[in-house]
Amino acid sequence: MGRKFFVGGNWKCNGTTEEVKKIVSVLNEGQVPSSDVVEVVVSPPFVFLGLVKSSLRPDFHVAAQNCWVKKGGAFTGEISAEMLVNLDIPWVILGHSERRLILNESNEFVGDKVAYALSQGLKVIACVGETLEQREAGSTMDVVAAQTKAIADRVSSWSNIVLAYEPVWAIGTGKVATPVQAQEVHFELRKWLFANTSPEIAAATRIIYGGSVNGANCKELAAQPDVDGFLVGGASLKPEFIDIIKSAE
Ligand code: G3H
Repeated sequence: MGRKFFVGGNWKCNGTTEEVKKIVSVLNEGQVPSSDVVEVVVSPPFVFLGLVKSSLRPDFHVAAQNCWVKKGGAFTGEISAEMLVNLDIPWVILGHSERRLILNESNEFVGDKVAYALSQGLKVIACVGETLEQREAGSTMDVVAAQTKAIADRVSSWSNIVLAYEPVWAIGTGKVATPVQAQEVHFELRKWLFANTSPEIAAATRIIYGGSVNGANCKELAAQPDVDGFLVGGASLKPEFIDIIKSAE
């Protein structure tokens, strides 16, 4: 069975109620391929999850942008996986580089989060990616393999994980990875999964690309054999997100 194309929209820490309503109405009116062809998941800030979930078209789904590493309790400011499940939020983004780098989330901490979220029934968009310094030092694969290993060490099933390769140097910079650069890392990641998990997991796991994806560059990236979709930041707040979803065809 082929891997269904996946397009995620990470709204990050953006939006007012009015802006969120506007984005949802653009999404609701968008003509996109059927959900047999593409899975679309948008990720608003926590405070807008309810609004988006209740007003978004039923063929699109929602994701939280983070959740706590274990069962909820005395953890001021955190949102637990149980709460997301209780609100019927099916997806969560974990390990985004903005959290790894700004909030010092380690590979192990992200791995623990992924394992706990899965154990509660959430589906996870797990992010990996190297900084420019790491790329220039030639350690891209070592970095993304270590990030992926910390997840693989803690989970037995990958059926509810989408792996997002997001080179840090491409995020929000307008400096998108070339299709060749993206394909190269996606291919290596799939090879890593083949060798370290199982051939079945390697064949079935969707590896999506994130970092300055827009309506103009998505087609060429989507044509790469190991690019199974996108995690889109800035452009997911704009009408061109519909064009990116259309690149599934
Ligand atoms: O999660 C999304 C990524 O950080 C990409 O963001 O499309 O604004 O570069 P960007």
